[in-house]
Formats: sequence, structure tokens, C-alpha cells
Amino acid sequence: MSKKELEAESYFSKDFSWDELREEVENNPSFQFHLHPYSSKRTANQNHNALKNAEAWDKFHACHSSGKFFKERRYLLKEFPELASCGENKKVLEVGCGNGSTILPILRGHESIIVYACDCSDEALERTKEIIGAADSIPAKHRFHPFLWDFSNRFPSWLACHSCSGTSSGTNSRDEMGMLNPSCYNEIECCIGGVDFVTLIFTLSALPVDRMPTAIAQCFGVLKPGGLLLFRDYGLYDMTMLRFKAEQQVGYREYMRSEETRSYFFCLDTVRNLASAAGFIEVELEYCCVKSVNRRTGRMMKRVWVHGKFQKPGGEIE
Ligand SMILES: C[S@@+](CC[C@H](N)C(=O)[O-])C[C@H]1O[C@@H](n2cnc3c(N)ncnc32)[C@H](O)[C@@H]1O
Repeated sequence: MSKKELEAESYFSKDFSWDELREEVENNPSFQFHLHPYSSKRTANQNHNALKNAEAWDKFHACHSSGKFFKERRYLLKEFPELASCGENKKVLEVGCGNGSTILPILRGHESIIVYACDCSDEALERTKEIIGAADSIPAKHRFHPFLWDFSNRFPSWLACHSCSGTSSGTNSRDEMGMLNPSCYNEIECCIGGVDFVTLIFTLSALPVDRMPTAIAQCFGVLKPGGLLLFRDYGLYDMTMLRFKAEQQVGYREYMRSEETRSYFFCLDTVRNLASAAGFIEVELEYCCVKSVNRRTGRMMKRVWVHGKFQKPGGEIE
């Protein structure tokens, strides 16, 4: 097995039981503050609006612009093989693209796939453009379309206009076969008609909790019927959650880093409820529990991620 294959394999595996980790954490007195419902008296950080969020992420990306921070997500196509096995000219929207870690394997994995990628940080988009531009073995770089966007707002109508997305005042412009209704033909001129996949990889956790339902609804809105939301994010009791100090807590299971970016840690039910409230059908949802060793300190770390796949009703993606 090559080094790349080994790396992909190790990210994919399940090394320990999440229930055993939960027991360990919940019985450890030093972790008690993570477990209790949160009292808002402790923080002045609640007024973290969209502008502040984008500024904080700009700061984050500016600090990590060396390129060392960039790590291509080699395991992505193992977790979400439909990105490689789908038909021709499928469209993907990568939400919160960061510096392109998720985009590269998608572009490499299928020669005709088209990636639209948004981020609320200008700095992140610049880094992504550089990285995709410099990548060898990616034919047709015009398959990559970056744009600046905060996804807790309605996506621009060129992605899926209101009639195509079927989210405005009740008119769904597609029939049960997923075909566009004639009343929508004029709209095709103004938009790409929705995307086949939305990838939401370590991005939802960056939003304040109260903006998550709207953000997931926006992802639902831009998908074609039958389209898939591919989700991966921090799981409850991940080692990075347990490292946060009490004063960094800004909500229940929600923390703020020094540069004011946020991180939320999901249990399966939170993801399940957000997705089903937006209208999605659950296809896969599970914890991914991986042991990894810090190369510098030699210490073993227990990583927990939530892996999910959700489908918009009404059609099939070939
Ligand atoms: C942890 S990074 C994940 C990057 C990428 N998806 C990946 O797989 O590496 C989270 C990204 O979400 C972006 N982000 C945070 N809030 C956002 C928002 N409201 N709208 C769009 N992007 C956002 C941040 O700028 C950051 O680049």
C-alpha cells in the first residue's frame, strides 16, 4: 500500500468506541464544565455577528498562510465515494472552502466535476486560488469557481434561483422525476439550476449555534432534488474540545479560539435534528473515532468526527 493510501485508510478507520470515550469523559472531574448547560453570565462574546465572524476567519487564515497548514483531505473520496463515481459534469458546492483541502481531492477524483466554492473570508479564497492554481495533475482549472459568501445568508440566485430551488413561496419548479417545469425555463438563463452535491466539511461548527438552522436550510435550497449533503465535522468529546478552558466556552458545547473563531462539537442527534428540520432524508450518520499520535510529543490523541450523508427528496443522482 502506498503512503497516500495508508494515510487515507487510517483516517477512515474506527479505533475506539465513542460510548467508552463518553463514559471516560463524563466520569472525569476535570471535564465537568464541558458537560453542564451553559450559563451566559460567563461571557461578553455573545455579540459575535457575521462581520466579526468573517474578520476572525480572515485573521485565522492570515496567520496560517505559510502553506504548512494546508493538508489535502486524502480520505475524502473514501468517505464520500459518490464524488468520484458520479456521472459527467456534476456540480459540487464546497461551503467554507478554507484553503482548498477538500476541493483538491474532488477535482482530482473526477475529470468533469465542477466545483463552486465559497468562504466568508477573502484571505481564504486567495489562498485557495493560489493552491488550486499551483496544483499539478488537475486538468481544466476552469472547473473551479470561487466566490465570497457567508452561507448563513441566502445563496446568490445564480446558484439556484427561487423557482429552481423550490424554496420560495411554495412553488417547486421540478416534477417528481426531477425535471424542470416549463414555467422555470426563463430562470435557467439566470442560474445554474442547483448543485448535485454540497460538501460541508468542518464548516458548520464555525457558525454560532443560532445560525445553524438557516445555514443548513440554505444548503438544502441550492441542491437539486435527489442531491446529497456530504457532512463531516467535530464530534462531541473530540480531544480538541477537551483542551478548551472554561473561560473559552461561549455556549453549550461551543468555544472560542484566541483569534475569535468559533468551534462547536456535535452529537449525532444535533446533526440529525438540524438536517431533518431542513427537509433532508438521513442516509448515513455516525461517529468516526480515530487514534492518532502527535509526532512532536509522542502523545496519543483520541479524535472524534461526525460523518453524515443526507439526501434532498425527489430524485436520484446518477
Ligand atoms: C475549518 S475551515 C474548513 C475548510 C474546508 N472546508 C476544509 O475542508 O478544509 C472552516 C472554514 O469555514 C469558513 N467559514 C466560517 N464561517 C463561515 C460562513 N458563515 N460562511 C462561509 N464560510 C465560513 C472559514 O473562513 C473557514 O475557511
